[in-house]
Amino acid sequence: MNILNLYASLNGQTEKIAREIEKTALMGEHIVTTVNVKKQEDIIDLLAYDFIFIGSGVYTWLPGKAMLDWMKRQMDYIRKNDLILPGSPRTPGKFVCVYCTYAGPHTGEAEAIPAIKYMGQLFDHLGITIVDEWSIVGAFIPKKMHQLNISGRLGNIEGRPNDEDLRQVRERVKGMLNSLQVSISST
Ligand SMILES: Cc1cc2nc3c(=O)[nH]c(=O)nc-3n(C[C@H](O)[C@H](O)[C@H](O)COP(=O)(O)O)c2cc1C
Repeated sequence: MNILNLYASLNGQTEKIAREIEKTALMGEHIVTTVNVKKQEDIIDLLAYDFIFIGSGVYTWLPGKAMLDWMKRQMDYIRKNDLILPGSPRTPGKFVCVYCTYAGPHTGEAEAIPAIKYMGQLFDHLGITIVDEWSIVGAFIPKKMHQLNISGRLGNIEGRPNDEDLRQVRERVKGMLNSLQVSISST
């Protein structure tokens, strides 16, 4: 499969997940293009890939600024070229998995859901089917925010994402790509 692995990461937490996805997909002998959207100025042809991963940290219930800015640039291009059709018909063989890393200090996972849904809509509008949505715990990195890693709604999240979180990412990537191999090779 031809895989696009998009991410934005302010303090490197989401980047850990993106790197794990990349390693796992490469071991499965897929072609993987990993893109940090902060460094991406050119418009990406999202329909050129069989499978897309997209991930970001959560900042006030939404993806961070780098991701929002990238999405806006993509949307401007998509609108200008009339790429969104009424009813957003499915494009066969095109899939996306949307995830975020988050700390949920106040309301827990509810803080991650709007960010995931927001990112997913870009792809759903283009007819790219959302196959999975992951919210992965990511502790606060700035020192002055460390207290929130032990006092928030999720309890103690120090060191997350940890080895177990990364193991789960690997297993989910393998499971998902295997399950779609047949639908993609038949298009
Ligand atoms: C300034 C700042 C604001 C944050 N705001 C939220 C928030 O509103 N909700 C939340 O769940 N996590 C919040 N977080 C935690 C991050 O989403 C989490 O640490 C994430 O894993 C960071 O990913 P990144 O380093 O890849 O951007 C915040 C972190 C920072 C540094």
